[in-house]
Amino acid sequence: MDKIVINGGTPLTGTVEISGAKNAALPILMGTILTGDRCVIENVPEILDVDLTLEILEKMGAKVRRDHTTVEVDTKDVRPGISPYELVSRMRGSTYLIGAELGRFQYTKVGMTGGCNFGIRPIDQHIKGFKALGATVSTLGGFVEASAEALVGSEVYFDMVSVGATVNVILASVFATGTTVLENAAREPHIVDLANFLNSCGANIMGAGTDTIKIKGVESLHGSTYAIIPDMIEAGTFMFAAAATGGHVKINNVIPKHLDSISAKLSEMGVYIEELDDAIIVKREGDMKSINVKTRPYPGFPTDMQPQMTALLCFAKGDGRVTEDVWDNRFRYIEELRKTGAQIDIAGKTALVHGGGALVGAPMRSVDLRAGAAMVIMGLAVSGRTEIIDIHTIERGYDNIVKKLRNLGADVRKVSF
Ligand code: EPU
Repeated sequence: MDKIVINGGTPLTGTVEISGAKNAALPILMGTILTGDRCVIENVPEILDVDLTLEILEKMGAKVRRDHTTVEVDTKDVRPGISPYELVSRMRGSTYLIGAELGRFQYTKVGMTGGCNFGIRPIDQHIKGFKALGATVSTLGGFVEASAEALVGSEVYFDMVSVGATVNVILASVFATGTTVLENAAREPHIVDLANFLNSCGANIMGAGTDTIKIKGVESLHGSTYAIIPDMIEAGTFMFAAAATGGHVKINNVIPKHLDSISAKLSEMGVYIEELDDAIIVKREGDMKSINVKTRPYPGFPTDMQPQMTALLCFAKGDGRVTEDVWDNRFRYIEELRKTGAQIDIAGKTALVHGGGALVGAPMRSVDLRAGAAMVIMGLAVSGRTEIIDIHTIERGYDNIVKKLRNLGADVRKVSF
């Protein structure tokens, strides 16, 4: 097993290259199933969730070749209903197999999926969408099984904004006859990226990036070559790490617009932010002010930056509030952060962070992907030694995080034990 060992207190300086977005790569790779053809996907992050996705696709009959960040997938011989439960159950992104299999074969059977544990993760909205398209759906015995004689375009109103349900119903409806209209759809950049990829393969999807998405069914798709957008959460994590350590970092290969809510919060805290065409400069000199933040679906402040924000506020002057409005239990990491001496109280959906205390390094266990990122930020910014275990949770979604931080001057390494 591996752990991350950090000797904190060094301001990060230099340049970091951001990888492709995890939450775009997973639906796009699963979406290649719909093409039944050869796709070349570029800028794919080298993370454990991608390794797992490609392993699942291979087990289903896909031919996969990978050269670092370029992945070639031929899904001609893929068959539905055979993805191994022991693999799909490890990752939430496997839910997208349901929409992709149903869309191409009008049949799907996929094990109930796992992923980060922050409360109940229902899929009722996904199922509502599949049923609206004419599918019969069962969730007995740990599997989701669905089939349809024919999928027919329909109107789907989502009761809450869900990234997963929006992705899944897009995937399922690409070949549905007529037009499918999704109302109250998620607007995340990764939804737009999925739609752009599928359109590059011949699909007819309009309105992605707004809350109304229209999908006109097409008869067939073909393969294409497509490059994934940069990962806004990886970028945001490095921005916060730069601010927490009092550093000066240029974050390359980003779409600054995707980072608006993150940049705005940093500016409010007194951190210098400069937007370039495809880079952002973050510089912190002097104290940071505490602020309040509430997580919201895009374009609001992302829940996937919530733990990192709590960590950052520990280094600001005064009290700040972090309210989690997307997930019902995403504060499990706070107990670990408190080991550094951080003063954080939890009241319902809000964490009250009393910033500005003297903090020290501590051993911590990464309880999920973004929790682990928050612990890395803590470790970099406090004085002394921090050791983080269960780092596979971090490597699920951060491409070469230790190497990238070392390039920025951090005293951090991965150690086997
Ligand atoms: N929800 C329902 N019913 C549904 C679907 C969702 O009640 O049928 C609720 C959820 O319980 C939650 C809220 O709606 O309270 C939002 O869930 P959403 O479906 O948007 O989340 P997801 O698709 O399961 C993706 C990301 C998460 C990210 C969320 C929110 C992937 C693989 N995962 O999850 O990313 O937190 O959207 O932006 O794209 C991460 O990367 O660390 C991560 C957890």
